[in-house]
Amino acid sequence: MTSDLAQLGFLLFISALVAMLTRRLHLPYTVGLVLAGMALYFSHVYIKWHLTKDLIFSVFLPPLVFEAALFIHWRDFKKELPFAKCIDCHKDDHNGQFAKRPEGIECSTCHNVQGWKPSLFDVKAHAKTDYPLIDGHAKVQCSGCHISKGKATIFKIVKFKSCTDCHKDEHNNQFAGEPYQNRCDQCHNLKGYRPSTFTLAQHKKTKFELTGGHIATACGECHKLADKDQPKSQIPYHFKDLSCTACHQDPHKGQFQERQVKVGANGKPPGCEACHTTKSWRELDRFNHDETTFPLQGSHRAVACIDCHKPPNLETKLVNADFKQAPTKCEECHEDVHGKQFAKADQITPCADCHNASKWKPSLFDHDKRAAFPLEGEHRNVACSGCHKQLRPVDGKQVLFYKPEPKECAACHGPEIKPLKKS
Ligand code: HEC
Ligand code: HEC
Ligand code: HEC
Ligand code: HEC
Ligand code: HEC
Ligand code: HEC
Ligand code: HEC
Ligand code: HEC
Ligand code: HEC
Ligand code: HEC
Ligand code: HEC
Ligand code: HEC
Ligand code: HEC
Repeated sequence: MTSDLAQLGFLLFISALVAMLTRRLHLPYTVGLVLAGMALYFSHVYIKWHLTKDLIFSVFLPPLVFEAALFIHWRDFKKELPFAKCIDCHKDDHNGQFAKRPEGIECSTCHNVQGWKPSLFDVKAHAKTDYPLIDGHAKVQCSGCHISKGKATIFKIVKFKSCTDCHKDEHNNQFAGEPYQNRCDQCHNLKGYRPSTFTLAQHKKTKFELTGGHIATACGECHKLADKDQPKSQIPYHFKDLSCTACHQDPHKGQFQERQVKVGANGKPPGCEACHTTKSWRELDRFNHDETTFPLQGSHRAVACIDCHKPPNLETKLVNADFKQAPTKCEECHEDVHGKQFAKADQITPCADCHNASKWKPSLFDHDKRAAFPLEGEHRNVACSGCHKQLRPVDGKQVLFYKPEPKECAACHGPEIKPLKKS
């Protein structure tokens, strides 16, 4: 122990000497120490000394730390180390694409030492480029726009102003002309292709405004593929034929052909619109029954169509009726309540001789002209039933018969009758 202490004293003495000497000679202290050490080695001065942990911690370390703390300057911490930046060791693998970035090409703005892929450059960082990733684009894989080619991957895309710089026309040239010129953003935004942003108001400006029942009709019911195997790009948005029959079948089996092709005031054949609008097939706004061979008059106006236009068999829908088959003569629809007393030679009673569609009673029968007994004087105010009372059964019903009746005064009054007052 004593020899250890003596040796330590000796070494400190030597180093103190070296310190004085180096300062004199303007040499670095460390160089002096190395030289002194070598000199000691070659001069065979035998130093046997146990370097223990305790010794280092309690004797050497404190003065070293103290010394370091005393001489280090704050500004030294701010000095750049020779390998502070990644580019100090790594060369630019992106061929100078990022040279114009404010941060320059420094790798650490987009990478860490964990690995090159994936980079730290995310959607948020992308927002600072000239092309922020919005809505649907934020979900697109980077390689969707920056096609992966390793180090040759292009990040500085040059053309991106127009959707078609990246997207191909998905509509088979249908919107290539005016006014759209394939500008996808006229009908789409970045939220997704479906639904499109094409509104009903815009549809109004096409040759086919959506009205009535068409407003509630899903776009895809009109804009659809004729054949499911066709590519979606063929979904039609323009139609050669805009008439109703382009999309709707004629359920009338052509019975209104004549009316449909008759050119109207606008110089065009009206087609189905001779009777229909898009409001509903049931509302026949355009159809005027009075222009048929059978105008609806009087009570007939309140009669349900199907009561005159009876569908064949047991069908219940008016549309199935053959409208041309509707009888036009009263007696073809109305039963003869008169037991055929007014029938002509052909056994048919022409009701229209004595009735119109307004009401059955009173009839239009003109007693003075048609009966063999004109009603004159007091007789004009006598109720029909005063003279006509003959009821006879016909097919199980009692029917009033108007003929024969006596015409002689006496047959009804007896012989004592005053003459009728002529008015
Ligand atoms: C002192 C020089 C030096 C510095 C500074 C340095 N690197 Fe490296 N790095 C290397 C060396 C050498 C390799 C191994 C050889 C190689 O793969 O290029 C390496 C490898 C890598 C790898 C692994 C490559 C692989 O193929 O797996 C990544 C990632 C990496 N460094 C990222 C960084 C990033 C990020 C920085 C800056 C924060 C950085 N390095 C700073 C020298 C350095
Ligand atoms: C502006 C951001 C940015 C900077 C700066 C940048 N990189 Fe990249 N780097 C990327 C992106 C993005 C990728 C693609 C990552 C992926 O494919 O997941 C990439 C990929 C890489 C790859 C892998 C290429 C491959 O696909 O094989 C390497 C290597 C690379 N970078 C090296 C560097 C080095 C070296 C630097 C610095 C000199 C650097 N990068 C600077 C963004 C950057
Ligand atoms: C929808 C297309 C699209 C997608 C998806 C996309 N980018 Fe970009 N990116 C662009 C366009 C366009 C530019 C050019 C913008 C510019 O020049 O400022 C660009 C620029 C960049 C740049 C260069 C930035 C600069 O300042 O020079 C980097 C890096 C980049 N993208 C990385 C990515 C990464 C990483 C992803 C995936 C997270 C990604 N991009 C996804 C379109 C896209
Ligand atoms: C820089 C290239 C680029 C530009 C410019 C671009 N896109 Fe994209 N977009 C893509 C890529 C790549 C995809 C993903 C692949 C795909 O769906 O075609 C995508 C996907 C989309 C999607 C689908 C998103 C989803 O939810 O699936 C929509 C919608 C879209 N883009 C609309 C547009 C519109 C509208 C424009 C113009 C305003 C536009 N894009 C401009 C590259 C671009
Ligand atoms: C005049 C309007 C219009 C323009 C211009 C237009 N589109 Fe469309 N696009 C539509 C409509 C309408 C739909 C149907 C949307 C729906 O089904 O809800 C559609 C549907 C789509 C679909 C989805 C097809 C499907 O069924 O999945 C894609 C993809 C698409 N468009 C891409 C584009 C691209 C790319 C452009 C530009 C080149 C473009 N569109 C331009 C109106 C338009
Ligand atoms: C009842 C049928 C019908 C419905 C429903 C319908 N359309 Fe149309 N649409 C048409 C017809 C017919 C045309 C063709 C007009 C023409 O040839 O110019 C058309 C044209 C278009 C065009 C082309 C416009 C142009 O200027 O070239 C677009 C886009 C369109 N429709 C989108 C839609 C969308 C979106 C919906 C749903 C909101 C819709 N349509 C619903 C019948 C319909
Ligand atoms: C481009 C195709 C197309 C054209 C042209 C078209 N329609 Fe339609 N229409 C439809 C589709 C599809 C529906 C909905 C499905 C259905 O009811 O058949 C519909 C529905 C209707 C409805 C509503 C049916 C209901 O019960 O709600 C009426 C009414 C109608 N159309 C009348 C017409 C008339 C009148 C015309 C001619 C002026 C016409 N449509 C032209 C495709 C068309
Ligand atoms: C002369 C008038 C007239 C013309 C022209 C006409 N219709 Fe009709 N249509 C009717 C009548 C009447 C009905 C029955 C209405 C009811 O059921 O209340 C009807 C009903 C319909 C119905 C409803 C069917 C159902 O199941 O209820 C459709 C669909 C229809 N017509 C389509 C057409 C089409 C398509 C055309 C052109 C080819 C056309 N119509 C032309 C008079 C007409
Ligand atoms: C009182 C009976 C009667 C009623 C009620 C009636 N019709 Fe008629 N309708 C006729 C007769 C009769 C004809 C003529 C048939 C002919 O020309 O051969 C006719 C003709 C038609 C025609 C054919 C027009 C043509 O040019 O071919 C249509 C369509 C029609 N009616 C529809 C209707 C509708 C719809 C209603 C209900 C609103 C209706 N009818 C109510 C008796 C009636
Ligand atoms: C195509 C069949 C048809 C023809 C033709 C027809 N009618 Fe009718 N008429 C009806 C139907 C159906 C009713 C309603 C049901 C009923 O009251 O019998 C009706 C009702 C009436 C009514 C009202 C009955 C009441 O109780 O309110 C009178 C009046 C009438 N018709 C008179 C006539 C006259 C007059 C003619 C000939 C000019 C005529 N009809 C031709 C079918 C017809
Ligand atoms: C020659 C004239 C004449 C002819 C033809 C005629 N009627 Fe009459 N009809 C009458 C008279 C008169 C009455 C009684 C009117 C009254 O009581 O005001 C009458 C009454 C009726 C009444 C009402 C009966 C009641 O008790 O309420 C009906 C129904 C009627 N006729 C139907 C017909 C039909 C149907 C035809 C054709 C098949 C027809 N008529 C033909 C003259 C005629
Ligand atoms: C004062 C008695 C009298 C009154 C009142 C009277 N009639 Fe008559 N009517 C007769 C006589 C008489 C005949 C002729 C009988 C004959 O030719 O056999 C006759 C004939 C008729 C005939 C048959 C015509 C023919 O040639 O087929 C009709 C119909 C008739 N009357 C309807 C009426 C109606 C309706 C009224 C009430 C508005 C009426 N009568 C009131 C006496 C009367
Ligand atoms: C078919 C039967 C019938 C015939 C024929 C007939 N009458 Fe009458 N007459 C009547 C009836 C019924 C009355 C009403 C009786 C009543 O009000 O009491 C009437 C009323 C009268 C009245 C009004 C009398 C009164 O009591 O106020 C006179 C007048 C009259 N008839 C004259 C005649 C003359 C004249 C003739 C021959 C030209 C004649 N009548 C033929 C049935 C007949």
